[in-house]
Amino acid sequence: MHLQPLLLFLQVFTLVLPSVVPDAPASSAGLELLDPTLPSELPAQTPKCTVAVLDHAFAVGVASLPMVSINYTQPPDCSAPWTRVVLEVAMAASGPARKHRVAAVWLDGVEILRTSTPPLLTAADAFWRVQKDVTRYAAILNRLAGGGTVSMIVDNSAVDLAAVLAANVSFHFYRGELSASSKHTGHPSVWGLYREPADLVIPISRERGSYGSGFWFQISGNPQAVAAPVTVPRNTYRAVLEIFVSYHADDESWYMNPLRFTYNAGDVAASTANGGFRQLYATVDGRFVGGHVPYAVIYSSSINPYFWSPVTAIGTFDIPSHDIDLTPFLELLLDGRPHELAIGVKDAQKYWLLSANLHLWVDRWSDAVQAGIVEYTTPTLKVNRNAQWHNQDGHSEVDAEGQLRFVGWVSTSKGNMTTTVRQKLRFKSQVSVHNRGAVRQADVVNREKTTVTTKSGQRTVGKVQLLMEAPLQVQTSVVRVAGGPTFENTRLSHQLQETAYVKELSEVSMSTLSDRQEAEGSAMVHEEEAQWGIASTRSYYKYTDENSCYLRTVNAQEGAIKVDMASRSCSAISDA
Ligand SMILES: *[C@@H]1O[C@H](CO)[C@@H](O)[C@H](O)[C@H]1NC(C)=O
Ligand SMILES: *[C@@H]1O[C@H](CO)[C@@H](O)[C@H](O)[C@H]1NC(C)=O
Ligand SMILES: *[C@@H]1O[C@H](CO)[C@@H](O)[C@H](O)[C@H]1NC(C)=O
Repeated sequence: MHLQPLLLFLQVFTLVLPSVVPDAPASSAGLELLDPTLPSELPAQTPKCTVAVLDHAFAVGVASLPMVSINYTQPPDCSAPWTRVVLEVAMAASGPARKHRVAAVWLDGVEILRTSTPPLLTAADAFWRVQKDVTRYAAILNRLAGGGTVSMIVDNSAVDLAAVLAANVSFHFYRGELSASSKHTGHPSVWGLYREPADLVIPISRERGSYGSGFWFQISGNPQAVAAPVTVPRNTYRAVLEIFVSYHADDESWYMNPLRFTYNAGDVAASTANGGFRQLYATVDGRFVGGHVPYAVIYSSSINPYFWSPVTAIGTFDIPSHDIDLTPFLELLLDGRPHELAIGVKDAQKYWLLSANLHLWVDRWSDAVQAGIVEYTTPTLKVNRNAQWHNQDGHSEVDAEGQLRFVGWVSTSKGNMTTTVRQKLRFKSQVSVHNRGAVRQADVVNREKTTVTTKSGQRTVGKVQLLMEAPLQVQTSVVRVAGGPTFENTRLSHQLQETAYVKELSEVSMSTLSDRQEAEGSAMVHEEEAQWGIASTRSYYKYTDENSCYLRTVNAQEGAIKVDMASRSCSAISDA
C-alpha cells in the first residue's frame, strides 16, 4: 500500500476526459458505474455507422430463459472492411441486486464478450457501459452480411433477487487509417497474440446455445475438461485458441480458497478447500498444447461490494480471455478430419463457465499447406502444496512453477516458417487464518512470460513477447455478533501489469499497461450479503507505447468520486 503520497498529490487535479466513443443511447438517470480503462484507439473519422442490435430487459431471478437470441443481418451500407469495430453493451438496473451476475455476448456461437455486473447497492437506478474492441472477430462480423444470430445471456443460476437488468447491444464500425502504433488488434489491451484479424473464427461452444441456457460449457471439476470436434481448413498456417472463463459457487473466489486436506463436516471451509491455484489448459486429441493461470477477476459481491461502487474491479467489465498459440501443432490438425479440442481447468470445483474460439489464418495461395512438429517437450509444472491447520486456524501454500517449449514448422506459399512457443510461469498462493477464524489473509503471486518466435531459415521474421504479472493481497478481519450480522474489515491491493513486445520484420512496437487498485473498508454482512458498508478505493491505470501515453486515476470514497484525473500525455503527474 504505497499509494498514500500519490493520493495526496492527486487531489490537486480534477479533470475528466471525454470519452472517444460516441455516447450510449441516453440513459443518464441514476449512478454511473465505471471501469476507467483506455478507450480503444479509433480512426480520426466518426464511425461509418453505428448499429443497434439488441434491446432487452432481463428479469433475473425469474423463471425465464436467461438467454436472448435475435436474427441479425448487417445493413448493406455498413459493410466490410473496417479498420475498427467496437462492441458496446449499455446496461441499466433497478436494484438492489446484492449478487453479481455474469453475462456474455455471442455472434453465431462465437463469444465476443464475457462481463459481470457491478454492485447494485441501493434501489436507485444504476447504469454502465462496456466497450470492447472486437476487430479481431472481423471474420464473424463479415458473415453477418448474410444474416446471423446475436445472443446475450445473463446468468441467473442464483435466485436471490428480483432486479431488472436492461441491456442494449450495439456495434460501431469504423473505416479510415489508424496510427501506426494501434495497428495491432485489441489495442490498448495487450492481451493476446493477434496481429491481423484471423480469416476464420471457429467456436468451441455448445451447439445452438443449448436451447436458451447459453453457448458456454459448465464444468464442475469432474470431469475437468470439455471437448468439441473441430475441422480446420487444410491451408491454415497460424492458429490461436482464445479461452473465456468465469468461476462461480465454490470457486467464485478460488484465489482465496484455503487448502485443507481434511476438514470437519459443517466447517464453512469444507466446500472451498481446494487451495488457491487453478490452471486453465487445452488439449488437441488428448495432447496438452498450453495453459495459463487465470487472471483473478474479483466479482463485485466476492469481497466488500462497497469497494466497487462506482469504480468496478479490474477486468470485471471485459473479463480477460486467455490465448494459446497452437501454430506448432498444426501438423495434428491439417488432415481435413475432425479433431478433438478440449478445454479445462485443473483443480476446478463447482463450477466454471468456459467457451473458446479458434482463430485461424489461411494461406489463400495454397489449397493445402504442410506442417510438422519439431519439438514437444512434455511440459513440466511443478506444484508444491503445503498446509497446516489447527481447527479453524492455519496456513496453506500452493507453489507452482512451469516451463514449456513447443516448436513446429509450416510450409506455405510465403515460405517455410518455424514457430517456437515458450512459456514460463511462476505462481504462489498463501492463505492463512488466525484468531480462531477471525483474520484471513491471501497473498497471490502470478507471473507469466510467453514468447512466440517465427523464423524463416535462420532469419527471425516475427517475435511476440508478453509479460504478465498479477499480484493480489487481501486481508479481512471479522467480528461476529452472536446470532446477528458480522462486521468485516478488509484491505486489498490488486494489480495487472503487462508488457508486450511485438516485432514483425523490421517493425517493432512495445507497450506496457499498469492497472492497480487499492481498497480499504468495512461491511456489515448478514446471511452472506453485505447490508451496509464504507470503503475507499484508489485506481491507477496507465498505458504507454512508443507514440502515446494515457493515464487515469480515480479515487472514490463512500460511493462518490473524489478525484478523477486523466491525461493523454501522462505529463500532468509523475509515475508513482
Ligand atoms: C431466425 O431465423 C430462423 C431461420 O430462418 C428462424 O427459424 C427463427 O424463427 C428466427 N428467429 C427469430 C427470433 O426471428
Ligand atoms: C436502450 O435503448 C433505448 C432506445 O434508445 C433507450 O430508451 C434505453 O434507455 C436504452 N437502455 C439502456 C440500458 O441503455
Ligand atoms: C521446413 O523446415 C523444417 C525445419 O527446417 C524441415 O524439417 C522441413 O522438412 C521443411 N519442410 C518443407 C516442406 O520443406
